[in-house]
Amino acid sequence: MGYIAGTLFGWESMARYANIVVEPPGPRARKVVEQDRRYIATTTKTSPVVAESASGGVVRDVDGNDLLDFASGIAVMNVGHSHPRVVKAVQEQAERLFHFAGTDFYYSAQVDLARRLASSVPGQCERKVFFSNSGTESIEAAMKLVRWNTGRERFIAFLGAFHGRTLGSLSLTASRPVQQERFFPTVPGAVHVPYAYCYRCAYGMEPSSCGAHCARVIEEVYFQYNVPPEEVAAIFLEPVQGEGGYIFPPKQFIKDMAAICRRHGILLVDDEVQAGMGRTGRMWAIEHFDVAPDILCTAKALGSGLPIAATIFPARLDMGHGAHSNTFGGNLLACASATATLDVIEEEGLIERAASLGEHLHRRLKELAELHEIIGDVRGLGLMQAIELVKDRETKEHAVMERESVITHAYKRGLILLPAGRSAIRLIPPLTVDKDFLDEGVEILDAALREVRK
Ligand SMILES: Cc1ncc(COP(=O)(O)O)c(C=O)c1O
Repeated sequence: MGYIAGTLFGWESMARYANIVVEPPGPRARKVVEQDRRYIATTTKTSPVVAESASGGVVRDVDGNDLLDFASGIAVMNVGHSHPRVVKAVQEQAERLFHFAGTDFYYSAQVDLARRLASSVPGQCERKVFFSNSGTESIEAAMKLVRWNTGRERFIAFLGAFHGRTLGSLSLTASRPVQQERFFPTVPGAVHVPYAYCYRCAYGMEPSSCGAHCARVIEEVYFQYNVPPEEVAAIFLEPVQGEGGYIFPPKQFIKDMAAICRRHGILLVDDEVQAGMGRTGRMWAIEHFDVAPDILCTAKALGSGLPIAATIFPARLDMGHGAHSNTFGGNLLACASATATLDVIEEEGLIERAASLGEHLHRRLKELAELHEIIGDVRGLGLMQAIELVKDRETKEHAVMERESVITHAYKRGLILLPAGRSAIRLIPPLTVDKDFLDEGVEILDAALREVRK
């Protein structure tokens, strides 16, 4: 059965991608969910999608339903599921050599990947790469790197930030209290300041007249009352806040962060774990802001599903022998996958594609906002788009339960979505999809929003 389009487009069309054969979650999915509850640690699950296989942007669940993937495995499958080029590279590598501990021995796959990553980061300096396996580890490495080099102990991070959940990165994370509860004390030294969340300005100001107040307070307030700048090792910055709600700051804010760093000998750490790898229509999201970071952390989409992360840093900051290392970082299979991923992004022009498809999706979401009062804000860059749901456009009260219902109704119609922040929904399909795929996703979202309004 194909999903019949709603009325947003004034005509009805049979879906080309979503195909619901059993109302999800079907019997097989329910069984897996039940077993998962029994044997798997409680984490952050949001929806009972039980995947069996996937190709491009379409996920087939265990009951035979085809679902449009607007979550990309949390911004991982930028080149689409099971891209043949990535599959082939991993298969060929698996036949040659799985693992050889690149921290203690040598292989060229790591060097070649590091060279490409080092030269991709904006800025003139020579760079090196530390490979690890997850976003949080890439941040841990950056925290150690900046302390080791500066001898300074404090960090500045932002309210709404998400940098990971191991105890070091958790000390920088501030997007939900549940992430912190019962884990204190984390690593000392982190100071959180408001981010440029202009839709909900922490200071109640308007971007047109605030004079970049949220950037200015760092020097004019924090550095005057509480935080000696000469003790700050780094500012940890997501150029687009991800888990915190898909928040896109004005250019000036990011430029001001770089200027503050320059003035006080502070290092700027750019967390591109979610926004990087072409997702926003640039290789790195920070390129939208004409800023060159000192250190750039990436993970997620780098390995197209194999765990790999990279902390890319100026060669002059390299630490001494034995200061930091691991077992699996830059594992051969992960390097093969990451190298093929970079090839696909380049050869298929996925960065440009993300930019133009992103404009299309953004336009469609704006149209949706004209029909649905509950959409308080539409924001995004490239194929990193979001809608924020509110009970009332004046008060901007978060529509928390409504957001959950929209995600559930969308899933039942064949669209996989993820929440972000308190009441936003992120739309992050693979960069390889086409306009019809995006339109179909928007049609289903429209139907789900109508359902919630009933
Ligand atoms: C911006 C950002 N940094 C770090 C992380 C942590 O990455 P991981 O879950 O791979 O540890 C995430 C995960 O969502 C993220 O979005």
